[in-house]
Amino acid sequence: MAGPTADGKVDMEHLAALRATLHQHAHQYYVLDAPQIPDAEYDKLFRELQAIEAAHPELISSDSPTQRVGGKPLDGFASVRHTVPMLSIRTETDTEASGAHNFDARVRKELALAPDAPPVEYVAEPKFDGLAINLRYEHGVLVQAATRGDGETGEDVTQNIRTIGQIPLKLNDAPPPLLEVRGEVYMRLDDFAALNERQRDKIAQGAKGEKTFVNPRNAAAGAVRQLDPAIAAQRPLSFFAYGLGDITPKANGGPVFKTHFEMLQTLKEWGFPVSALVGIAGGASELIAYHERLGKQRDSLGFDIDGVVYKVNSIALQRQMGFVTREPRWAVAHKYPAQEQLTTVLGIDIQVGRTGKLTPVAKLAPVFVGGVTVTNATLHNEDEARRKDVRVGDTVIVRRAGDVIPEVVSVLADKRVGSAAAFAMPRVCPVCGSAAVREEGEADYRCTGGLFCGAQRKQAILHFAQRRAVEVEGLGEKLVDQLIDNKVIKTLPDLYRLGFASLAQLDRMADKSAQNIVDALQKSKQTTLPRFLFGLGIRHVGEATAKELARHFGKLDGIIQASEEQLTEVADVGPIVAQSIRTFFDQPHNREVVEQLRACGLTWPEGEPTAVAAKPLAGKTFVITGTLPTMSRDEAKDLLEAAGAKVAGSVSKKTSYVVAGAEAGSKLDKAQELGISILDEVGLREMLNGSA
Ligand code: IVH
Repeated sequence: MAGPTADGKVDMEHLAALRATLHQHAHQYYVLDAPQIPDAEYDKLFRELQAIEAAHPELISSDSPTQRVGGKPLDGFASVRHTVPMLSIRTETDTEASGAHNFDARVRKELALAPDAPPVEYVAEPKFDGLAINLRYEHGVLVQAATRGDGETGEDVTQNIRTIGQIPLKLNDAPPPLLEVRGEVYMRLDDFAALNERQRDKIAQGAKGEKTFVNPRNAAAGAVRQLDPAIAAQRPLSFFAYGLGDITPKANGGPVFKTHFEMLQTLKEWGFPVSALVGIAGGASELIAYHERLGKQRDSLGFDIDGVVYKVNSIALQRQMGFVTREPRWAVAHKYPAQEQLTTVLGIDIQVGRTGKLTPVAKLAPVFVGGVTVTNATLHNEDEARRKDVRVGDTVIVRRAGDVIPEVVSVLADKRVGSAAAFAMPRVCPVCGSAAVREEGEADYRCTGGLFCGAQRKQAILHFAQRRAVEVEGLGEKLVDQLIDNKVIKTLPDLYRLGFASLAQLDRMADKSAQNIVDALQKSKQTTLPRFLFGLGIRHVGEATAKELARHFGKLDGIIQASEEQLTEVADVGPIVAQSIRTFFDQPHNREVVEQLRACGLTWPEGEPTAVAAKPLAGKTFVITGTLPTMSRDEAKDLLEAAGAKVAGSVSKKTSYVVAGAEAGSKLDKAQELGISILDEVGLREMLNGSA
């Protein structure tokens, strides 16, 4: 039986077992990313432990799983003197291959190796972009966590570090009685984005003293140095271990481990997260290969790295080489090109989107950031532009990390020289001159010009012609710009009235290309109802909703005539979407566009309305990931949809099945985490056949 016994005494064995179970599952969840029990089950055990401890506070120990969050706000941090100084690493700023060559040559010289001696063995690790932390364990229990500070003395941030799920409070096996582990506390990019989103919401709701964070490193540093541990606990942090500090005993006065790599493996066994990207490299050529390979992966790692750290693997050789001032001779940081750069703002343009949304965009002096030359950076909306106070002529920090669109992070206010005014959103659309309005509760201004606005018309045509809509091959942005700007066409149906002659007379248009466009237009006339519907660009009607609408109503006229109430009967269509569809078809000129397109010859097969429930997989949501042995993902999607299932792009609690093929990645992990049924191609076929 759980909890206190009948006489009010606590079953100490049970208490210890409960804590051990929770430790084990927390390790599976946070460190190994492979939970073995559902979250609810974990919560139940956790609450049981909380109940016992609430009744018997004298039994609470600092390594209890309940003790991650807690503690009172501090007035300041106590200083911690590091028993073994926290060193820094010499930086190789040469981001090219020679960075690795230089290091290897220095190491060989230090070790007095002959030119024909075999390659030195190194460990290559990502250089995580966070902050270094020293974790002190006594008899396997976390007793103190400290920042690096100046390397000699740091700050005691134990309360905050405890809130990081990936940092073990208690170690597995029998670690040395005194053990200091060093590593990097960092924030994942998705956690950073979500945190800033929450911050923006708070600011929008008028919260005082809140701000958004400039980058994940600053957000992580801010969280670690947060005086109120309750606030720190809300900032999602992660951790990778990469080294040791003090350790006792020191095995006959010599190194405890033979190699750095062996030490990392042991840290993993004790319960620390060690990056799976750590590798062994022999000589400069393999260091270079590692640097290149990781560089290619850099954008998809999910967290920032700013380089690779090379370390001589043999601890004996490390000792032999020693240090220069604060830097070991056996390690170097080989950088990647920076993801943040300084540049100047040449102007602020307003872009008009398909739905009339006006977006301020900073035009920048070209700058090489995160591997590409950036000349534009979004300022999102008026509030963001004003909050950052970006002005023409300003020196700004531009950031481009991952495949995220470039952003102006902040202005260097003390470098402001010009007298440019603060940014203000224009009250008229810069393209068509119609009024620009901001609805209450919305962040965006919109041009009210609708299809009168050239910019919106261009975007509407491009949207209609895209591959996922009716697909007019070869009709790109440049051509649409020409057609609209030269008034060759005005509306979407005009596109289908274009003849060879009017196309061939355009600038830089060869006869062959003009003919290709004519053919592509002709070909696009045979389409499907979902593609046509999606192509119309009705607000909130994406591809999936268009498919549902087509399936439910069978015919376009059924949709055009449906009431809001009837529309909400369609799976996935809520009141907002229904209203948007109704508003669209209530506008005479939109109905006119549809009629004219039909008159131009656009056709699609129409069917009878389908009762969705009659389909065998109706109401089920599937996610397809990885490569299936004999079916393409599109084929699988079509078959599933034909059986009434919905196919979604990401795994959530609402997912019914995940179909996984070879090299399935994070979606499969997520499915396992959520306990969702997983099918292979055979299982999928069986389900489709059984349900046919
Ligand atoms: S080892 C003796 N390994 O870089 C070397 N440091 O400039 C001690 N860092 O303060 C550090 N990733 O915050 C090491 N894989 C890694 C690292 C790493 C990031 C940071 C760390 C340290 C700074 C050194």
